Amino acid sequence: MEDFWACYLDPSGEVGPNYWQYFAECIAELVAVPEGAAILDLGTYDGNVLFKGMRKAGIRGRGIGIDIYPGGFHEGFNNTFTQGLSNVGFAQMDATYLGFPSETFDVVLGNFVGWDDLYDFVNMEFLSPDLRMAEILRVLKSGGQVGIGFWIEQSDIEWLIHAFKEKLPPCKALSCYPLTSYSRESLQGNQIILRTAGFHDVKIHVVTTTFVSPDLDTWWKQMKQVVGDYFKEIPELEGLKDYILIEVSQYQTSKGICFDKTVGFAFGVKP
Ligand SMILES: C[S@@+](CC[C@H](N)C(=O)[O-])C[C@H]1O[C@@H](n2cnc3c(N)ncnc32)[C@H](O)[C@@H]1O
Repeated sequence: MEDFWACYLDPSGEVGPNYWQYFAECIAELVAVPEGAAILDLGTYDGNVLFKGMRKAGIRGRGIGIDIYPGGFHEGFNNTFTQGLSNVGFAQMDATYLGFPSETFDVVLGNFVGWDDLYDFVNMEFLSPDLRMAEILRVLKSGGQVGIGFWIEQSDIEWLIHAFKEKLPPCKALSCYPLTSYSRESLQGNQIILRTAGFHDVKIHVVTTTFVSPDLDTWWKQMKQVVGDYFKEIPELEGLKDYILIEVSQYQTSKGICFDKTVGFAFGVKP
């Protein structure tokens, strides 16, 4: 299996995980994008998935990325300029209420948007009507494809949450705040979500990959990025650094600190 290393992000020079790019490549690779397609990318952030999908759509393709939070658009716009792409745009929008006419897109993608606010993946039932998937169905052309990506397991984050919970005083902090916004979803749950919305030909793919951080300090910086807000709100977490670094050294190999991440991808076709 190939290894994927931590990388340094430009322009900040901060250590960043490259797994977002890696899994964006996966969904773009798996989805069928016709030449000249119109692509909508939900929860686009900086267009990470959108730009990769656009490579398949070619110069006659059109792409728009929408996000409820516009914090990544600046980087996305910069990319459109540096790559000379006049056929890519970004808009702030809630995926539950898409401001596009019906039957506009050939492909709708949504990587790691998260369906856990609408669907209970433990009890396998809807928490409320799935207006978001209904909107995706509406804006897709007949024969168009939806593709969503979701976390099945992030072993490093699960291990970290477990380690923090063991060491923090009971009921303090972690019982009040979730440590990360990462929630596990399931293949079966996402199949149900797509079929219930009316999609046909539902297909599932699972990708597990090992990610390597070169040393303990780099790994710790990455984990702090993942749970960044909580380091501000829960000062006790920084005090656990020494304990965590000793514990995590069991995941050290000759290459560095290795953890697996498993992602599910679900695709469906509008009848
Ligand atoms: C974990 S990020 C993933 C970004 C990108 N898709 C990727 O794979 O690199 C999830 C994004 O979904 C966005 N998001 C969550 N709920 C949304 C909603 N209802 N409508 C639009 N965007 C949403 C968040 O603001 C965030 O930028």
